[in-house]
Amino acid sequence: MIGIFDSGFGGLTVMKEYLKKYPDFDYMYLGDQANAPYGSHSAERVNKLVVQNVEFLIQKGCTLIIVACNTASADALRVVQQKYKGKPTILGVLIPAVEEALKQTRFGNIGVIGTRGTMDSNAYERELKKYEKDLYKPSDKRALKSVKVIQKACPLLVPFVEEGMTKAMVTRMMLRTYLRPLKGAHVDTLILGCTHYPLLQKEIERMMGRQVKVISSAKAAADAIEDYLKRHPNVEKGITKNGKRTYYTTDCPERFSELGGKFLGKKIVGERVEV
Ligand code: DGL
Repeated sequence: MIGIFDSGFGGLTVMKEYLKKYPDFDYMYLGDQANAPYGSHSAERVNKLVVQNVEFLIQKGCTLIIVACNTASADALRVVQQKYKGKPTILGVLIPAVEEALKQTRFGNIGVIGTRGTMDSNAYERELKKYEKDLYKPSDKRALKSVKVIQKACPLLVPFVEEGMTKAMVTRMMLRTYLRPLKGAHVDTLILGCTHYPLLQKEIERMMGRQVKVISSAKAAADAIEDYLKRHPNVEKGITKNGKRTYYTTDCPERFSELGGKFLGKKIVGERVEV
């Protein structure tokens, strides 16, 4: 069984991408709504919460765990990977997005948007710089020698998406304000480094213009798993395949089911658990 963990319902955008690829796998989703949003917590607090939630999924028998929350991946992925040493395999969402951005960028001018926590961690910039020597091969002669990363925290987007205001005028105004410095810096690739932003992707693409490649960390994570499972057949074998889904939340199951359904694009019933 695959365990997908997020601070709330945002990670269901990641699960949605997984379900398209692997509908037969068994999934257990855990949204730590009681402690959300993670984006405004300190890294220490996020670390503690991630350890607790990952431990819960391990106790429930998950053999592969996806930390779907960007903030949690940025702050705590390494902590849980070191703690559990591959038993089970724990993967995040940052590196797939970083790899995709480095492959797609034409000029090496890469923008990243996310929560304040993700931006403060500087994890995207660190990983982009780490992987650039292997993956940055721009064909355009005018490209930068080394990638330039422009990061912008967009803390107000999460609550607006959760209020279902993805198409509201106020959300558009906010987006325009947040994206202005990225447009001004002429980024040619933009990473959506937050679980909630795929719900704004069309609008972001429209605002950034056709020449900017927009990369969803949710989609990149699901795309990357295909290759990962091919290279790790024992992990693939360990995943049970009965098409079973379980949805857990650490807070109000009614709200989780209602909003979660919108994120996943299908009706779900969440159950409350103590972690
Ligand atoms: N899931 C978080 C992320 O992707 C967004 C919501 C939150 O701040 O908890 O960074």
